[in-house]
Amino acid sequence: MMNNAVTVEGLRVRRGRHDVFAGLDLAIPRGQVTGLLGPSGCGKTTLLRAIVGVQRVRGGRVDVLGERAGSASLRRRVAYGTQGAAVYPDLSVRQNLRYFATVIGAGKDEAERVMDRVGLTPFAGQTVGALSGGQANRVSLGVALLGDPELVVLDEPTVGLDPVLRAELWALFRAIADAGTTMLVSSHVMDEALRCDRLILLREGRIVAATTPARLLQDTGTTDPERAFLALIARDAEVAPEHRTTRRERRTEAGS
Ligand SMILES: Nc1ncnc2c1ncn2[C@@H]1O[C@H](COP(=O)(O)OP(=O)(O)OP(=O)(O)O)[C@@H](O)[C@H]1O
Ligand SMILES: [Mg+2]
Repeated sequence: MMNNAVTVEGLRVRRGRHDVFAGLDLAIPRGQVTGLLGPSGCGKTTLLRAIVGVQRVRGGRVDVLGERAGSASLRRRVAYGTQGAAVYPDLSVRQNLRYFATVIGAGKDEAERVMDRVGLTPFAGQTVGALSGGQANRVSLGVALLGDPELVVLDEPTVGLDPVLRAELWALFRAIADAGTTMLVSSHVMDEALRCDRLILLREGRIVAATTPARLLQDTGTTDPERAFLALIARDAEVAPEHRTTRRERRTEAGS
């Protein structure tokens, strides 16, 4: 559907001896901040990798901005900030952005535009290694924004930041989305759920909920996203006991 930035149908992925996804379906609307949330190991990075087209898949279909994931034509249209995205600590903010701009074939103006966009112009000449954690994360965000991609995929960009800096970064994601860029952002911190327009809650390779923050809280009768997630897991286990069996069998198999 044209209103969706991403459509995933029946995605199957195996990593090592582990079936991470055994038929995953989801849709991500354009122009919003969608949060991909779930505990460590639930499959967030694997799903993001499939969306940006770098994950080997066993089956299913992933469409991104009207093309198949990984198509050459998507290279400039999709940006991926990997978990623990690396910039050069011994270079300045401006040098980093100019370097990565050159890599994607963009010019110095693009480095300046992005630096302004993420609020780092006052720190242009500062070495990245001497920046605060929140500022350094904004350099990584700036790198992702080079070339003005239509979809920005960020894997746990707020990890290691205090709540104030996390809030700042999420406000920046919101501003970028308001300017028309689709943002897909993962986190294993449930509190961040409330900062997104849409939420995908993932657990052990299955979608526990695809909803909005307001509906999540309303459906679970709580004001705390962590408790809402636990409530959904409890409900999920009740309605789908066969999945628990499958997982237990898989664990036994893996342990043998
Ligand atoms: N290279 C790999 N080889 C084998 N198994 C892997 C590999 N990478 C990930 N896995 C497994 O795939 C599953 C999903 O991993 P994934 O990295 O997608 O989780 P995640 O939700 O991103 O976790 P985190 O929050 O810790 O980053 C996990 O069970 C993990 O052990
Ligand atoms: Mg991960």
